[in-house]
Amino acid sequence: MSDTMRLQSFDLATQDIAEADLDGLHALSISVGWPHRRSDWSLFRSLGRGLAAFDDIGRVFASAMWFDHGETVATIGMVITSPRVQTHGGGRFMMEHILRECGARSLMLNSTRAAHALYLSLGFEVQAVVCQMQGIVREGSGAPKLDASAVEVLAPDDLPRIVALDKAAFGADRSVVLTRLAPLSRIVGIRRNGHLEAYAMRRPFGRGTVIGPVVAHSEDDAILLSASLLGDLGGRFARLDTRQPEGRFRTFLQSSGLELYDTVKTMTRGAPLAAVRPGQPGIYALAAQPLG
Ligand SMILES: CC(C)(COP(=O)(O)OP(=O)(O)OC[C@H]1O[C@@H](n2cnc3c(N)ncnc32)[C@H](O)[C@@H]1OP(=O)(O)O)[C@@H](O)C(=O)NCCC(=O)NCCS
Repeated sequence: MSDTMRLQSFDLATQDIAEADLDGLHALSISVGWPHRRSDWSLFRSLGRGLAAFDDIGRVFASAMWFDHGETVATIGMVITSPRVQTHGGGRFMMEHILRECGARSLMLNSTRAAHALYLSLGFEVQAVVCQMQGIVREGSGAPKLDASAVEVLAPDDLPRIVALDKAAFGADRSVVLTRLAPLSRIVGIRRNGHLEAYAMRRPFGRGTVIGPVVAHSEDDAILLSASLLGDLGGRFARLDTRQPEGRFRTFLQSSGLELYDTVKTMTRGAPLAAVRPGQPGIYALAAQPLG
């Protein structure tokens, strides 16, 4: 008797991700070690488009999504192939399909190490490193030496001002995303002379809570807002993804218990990433890796 066996390969069909089995998508992201909850998948599906690939008994083996931000900019994310079928061309197939749907839009994504070569080969260029900061929040972490009295809780009727500030920082209109995130989030901001200068959101995600987006004119304001949102999370898990290099903001996060866990690379095709410059609105924390 032979001690080897040859298993038949199988075909995968694709479908609109909106119709894919949610539990199957959830199992797919778990299979690659991602922390997303079922509800995180629901949120992303409500915000974007994409496709899933499944076998003839309905098991989901791959996913890829894209998210429109205005007419000309999109972000790509949730690109996964099951470890059982990786390195057989599935990732490229899914990406080529998504790129066709995105047409002439400028594109941005956050690439893991595993996907880097694939995205380079599809014309994406590295723009920045994203640091995934996470951990158990230290009790009593605050923003030392900064005046926290400037921070206020923002209400739903502040949304138009939040969207305008975000657009100045992100470089495209994320109103669809922000309108959807707002009711799920606690939102704080800093207003000076009647103008909203900074805002930050926090919501349940993955293993606990994610802080993002954070948009501000300075690291100090980003620290103030993050400190405010971390304030009552002592002893609980939180995460914040930032492109800020080592400096005051990252030091503050570390002193609050959020250590560097992993990095991904922001890559773009068609237009460069909007830079963060002190004195101008900038992105200090991502909304989520698929959303920029
Ligand atoms: C990234 C991922 C989607 C790639 O999927 P895949 O099905 O393996 O991709 P493909 O087989 O189409 O390979 C695409 C390219 O990746 C590279 N690649 C794939 N496997 C590789 C390996 N083991 N070593 C080196 N390069 C590899 C090759 O450049 C390949 O190019 P080719 O088409 O010229 O051969 C998959 O590894 C994955 O789901 N990883 C975990 C989740 C993740 O990191 N997603 C990316 C989020 S940004």
